[in-house]
Amino acid sequence: MIVAITYELIKVCKQSGARLGRVHTPHGVIETPCFMPVGTQATVKTMSPEELKTMDARIILSNTYHLFLRPGHELIARAGGLHKFMNWDRAILTDSGGFQVFSLSEMRKITEEGVQFRSHLNGDKLFLSPEKAMEIQNALGSDIMMAFDECPPFPAEYGYVKRSIERTSRWAERCLQAHARPEDQGLFAIVQGGEYEDLRKQSATDLTSMDFPGYAIGGLSVGEPKPIMYRVLDYTVPLLPSGKPRYLMGVGSPDALIEGAIRGIDMFDCVLPTRIARNGTTMTSKGRVVVRNAANAEDFGPLDPACNCYTCQNYSRAYIRHLLKADETFGIRLTTYHNLHFLLQLMRDVRQAIMEDRLLDFRDEFFAQYGLNDN
Ligand code: GUN
Ligand code: ZN
Repeated sequence: MIVAITYELIKVCKQSGARLGRVHTPHGVIETPCFMPVGTQATVKTMSPEELKTMDARIILSNTYHLFLRPGHELIARAGGLHKFMNWDRAILTDSGGFQVFSLSEMRKITEEGVQFRSHLNGDKLFLSPEKAMEIQNALGSDIMMAFDECPPFPAEYGYVKRSIERTSRWAERCLQAHARPEDQGLFAIVQGGEYEDLRKQSATDLTSMDFPGYAIGGLSVGEPKPIMYRVLDYTVPLLPSGKPRYLMGVGSPDALIEGAIRGIDMFDCVLPTRIARNGTTMTSKGRVVVRNAANAEDFGPLDPACNCYTCQNYSRAYIRHLLKADETFGIRLTTYHNLHFLLQLMRDVRQAIMEDRLLDFRDEFFAQYGLNDN
């Protein structure tokens, strides 16, 4: 059988246990651990594909839910698929809509068949199911598709989470059956189970028995304290096959990227860098900097003297603050570019530290500069 997505383990950090590897996709190779910029609406907000390439992003994430609502997956298929539509010839991962339908839509009704909901755009009555999520992602042509799952809120009662993971497993089986392009699109399953160790174990056991080319851990970064997230990773990651990529969904703060890598995670995504950039907040080697603050009014130095990105090489805090205050679009393009570059560079540094068996030392040095508490 031809498999669209394969994982190559290069080495395990002797100090931390983190994995250095490569994910091979039909649209190129991704060095892992990696961070995936989010392009919900078939664009990483304010960035051109060329700009994303200058920071060496190898893969971006997009969303079934949003593209289904607008402009519609059939239109994107007629355009020649999502890569062609948005002029991005590197890898794309699409989330299944299983998460967005719960966080964005109104009047949801979950049944065994799927989820009925109203569009957050125009109130249209719509339906998503495992089969529909596969149809949409097959039409988009993403390199990595996600199974249609249910993501319980935090906190959620044990009985509810148990019924939910059982349904997520049945839905995963239906996704496998409905997937029409396994030769050029890899389908990843999503382990759920909230904060309950036995449920995470049951979910992982169910899903790994179905032999997906990759596994995600979902249901985290949904409002639980970080120590709970790390504990869930401590007992869940070892349940996943070592020969396949492991993806922690919706996580992208610098501390969680490092702690996740230490626990054996290979892939991450989050709207955090792009979202905070648009309200004038940046991530720097010394922690977060709110460029909008008055303290930066006459600071003619860069956002981060330790950063070699386009923004930091060419523009001052004072200038960027001025643009943001004047509502000039260029301001949020500069902060977005910097934040994405910052996380992609952080992952390059993490990979180098794994290569040199010093990721725990790297973490301690990073936190000493950055500060410990970030979200
Ligand atoms: N994004 C962040 N968390 C999740 C999750 O649990 N499921 C899905 N489908 N997407 C997510
Ligand atoms: Zn920079």
